[in-house]
Amino acid sequence: MLNDEKVILEERQGEVHENDTSTDLVGSKKLYIESYGCQMNFSDSEVVASIMNKNGYSTTRDIDEANVVLINTCSIRDNAEKRVRNRLTEFKKKKNDNPDLVVGILGCMAERLKKSLLEQEQLVDLVAGPDAYRDLPNLIDEVGTGQRAVNVLLSRDETYADISPVRLDKGGVSAFVTIMRGCDNMCSFCVVPFTRGRERSRDPETIVKECQDLFSNGYREVTLLGQNVDSYRWNITNKGQIKNPEKATVNFAELMELVAKVSPDLRVRFSTSHPKDMTDDVLYAMAKYENLCNYIHLPVQSGNSDVLKRMNRGYSREWYIKRIEAIHEIIPDCAISTDVISGFCGETDLEHSDTLSLMDFVKYDFAYMFKYSERPKTLAERKFEDDVPEEVKSSRLSEIIEKQLKFSLESNKKRIGLIEKVLIEGVSKRSDEHMCGRTSRNSMVVFPKGKGLKGEYVQVKIIDCTSATLMGEEINH
Ligand code: 5AD
Ligand code: SF4
Repeated sequence: MLNDEKVILEERQGEVHENDTSTDLVGSKKLYIESYGCQMNFSDSEVVASIMNKNGYSTTRDIDEANVVLINTCSIRDNAEKRVRNRLTEFKKKKNDNPDLVVGILGCMAERLKKSLLEQEQLVDLVAGPDAYRDLPNLIDEVGTGQRAVNVLLSRDETYADISPVRLDKGGVSAFVTIMRGCDNMCSFCVVPFTRGRERSRDPETIVKECQDLFSNGYREVTLLGQNVDSYRWNITNKGQIKNPEKATVNFAELMELVAKVSPDLRVRFSTSHPKDMTDDVLYAMAKYENLCNYIHLPVQSGNSDVLKRMNRGYSREWYIKRIEAIHEIIPDCAISTDVISGFCGETDLEHSDTLSLMDFVKYDFAYMFKYSERPKTLAERKFEDDVPEEVKSSRLSEIIEKQLKFSLESNKKRIGLIEKVLIEGVSKRSDEHMCGRTSRNSMVVFPKGKGLKGEYVQVKIIDCTSATLMGEEINH
């Protein structure tokens, strides 16, 4: 998630691909698309670009030449919605100059606010929820006939499995591949189950095919995306393909193996794991294949079991610690990151100190840290009072951030002197003389230009670091 409150430690989070262009796509009409929020939204925008491309739209980076402007939105915290509203107000001004311009809202805010953005606030012409993207060309036609168009139906089976996404980061090295949609977990703070609907997995054959195509097109890294990848499950008997009922399903560990086998030169990452569902089988698969990257994002949210219960997370502090121990045992050099929320309903000083002590125990390599933001209709909104004062949320968050910065720096310092295998992502954002890329553990490495080119693997000796970045020099063999 990219958000004002989210602490992004420099480049580790990756680039934000807002309104990137794809000039190789033919089409007389122009689509400008902007994405906010989680990786899933960026991935969805690529599906949208593909659907629109088949209907004669090419994407543009220049909003002033667009016929259609779409904004793919996030509802996870109030700040995320505020940013989108500001942007929509700016789009509305553009519409005053160009009345034919179609402005549409996609994603979680579209689902959450439905018709109100259209009817009460009159900010947009079109509203399409996360399962309605195939309907976009029809909705745009409806707008053309003077109507305001809405489709916010959630589906039990839409996975856009057959759609080959248009990659908006042209010439890229790393791509997102959605493997499942929706979430059935109902964490009490979270709006996602309401905006993205029920959980459903995508046909593994189409996932593997997409990864093969990406590899053939020069990509060297895929990130498999789902709200809870550990509950990925595809029932093969549904397709009548398999005779042996014992092997009638593909689970996440098996899917990872299938993708790992696409090529040893294709790195595979995934997000997000859920502590209650992450199996040892997934860890064993990671240990077995070098190209399954040594990095796990395992959101803890809180280090106190009572808070976890109120959050409806389905695990305790002790269970979480056991999962961390399993990771260390099975994959000794695995980086671990997390999400933490400060000031959830009823959180006491003591409960907060449990979060800090858990951080001391795990020593995360990286973390995304947030203040609790109450979301309408969630279980927490209905059941608990948002009673931790704003200043307390902020001061607890500062303590959490301060601790994490210390651990991120410590984690990076341990890499000094080591030789890391780095997949080059391109020229560094800060200096034309430097390249940047990631290690298997997902650390960003910056080093002076050498022989290695974008999309190639190089060995880099680490010589220095900050809390966010490793600095090194390419080793020539
Ligand atoms: N308030 C603050 N943070 C939230 N997250 C989800 N919902 C909320 C909320 N209401 C955080 C969680 C989750 C991450 C994607 O966003 O930490 O793991
Ligand atoms: Fe939200 Fe919990 Fe589902 Fe993650 S697992 S999307 S936090 S409900």
